Amino acid sequence: MEKISSRRYLKIITAARRAALNAYAPYSKIRVGAAIRTRSGRIYTGCNVENSSYPLSLCAERNAVGSAIAAGEKEFRYLVLSSPDLDFILPCGGCAQFLAEFEPDLLIITTGKDDRYKAYRLKDILALPFLRGE
Ligand code: THU
Repeated sequence: MEKISSRRYLKIITAARRAALNAYAPYSKIRVGAAIRTRSGRIYTGCNVENSSYPLSLCAERNAVGSAIAAGEKEFRYLVLSSPDLDFILPCGGCAQFLAEFEPDLLIITTGKDDRYKAYRLKDILALPFLRGE
């Protein structure tokens, strides 16, 4: 776990919390929001989008990364993950791999109740991602 000053991240934490409220999660009932900060300073958000064919469901992180990529951004500094239904939610293995493609050392901040946060490095969540390089 990393020590962070949460005040520095309040804007992006708010963005992730808001995105979670737009989640479409009628099956799991776990709403998830993600907000990713690019090197250029922009923030892109995503939420989970489930489907009645369960495996088609999309995770919040992948949606946020997709929005950033569609806007022409692929250099990421940190990501905030938030769920009003589950404290300190962490990226699933698939999302960890998906994020590692762009920044294996990404800082991941996750929210709990009462303005409590935890922060981890992606490489501690997924030590050895599959990376083909260029
Ligand atoms: N979920 C995410 O959006 N991100 C994660 O990293 C963990 C899981 C979503 C997928 C599904 O819609 C719900 O949370 C329950 O697994």
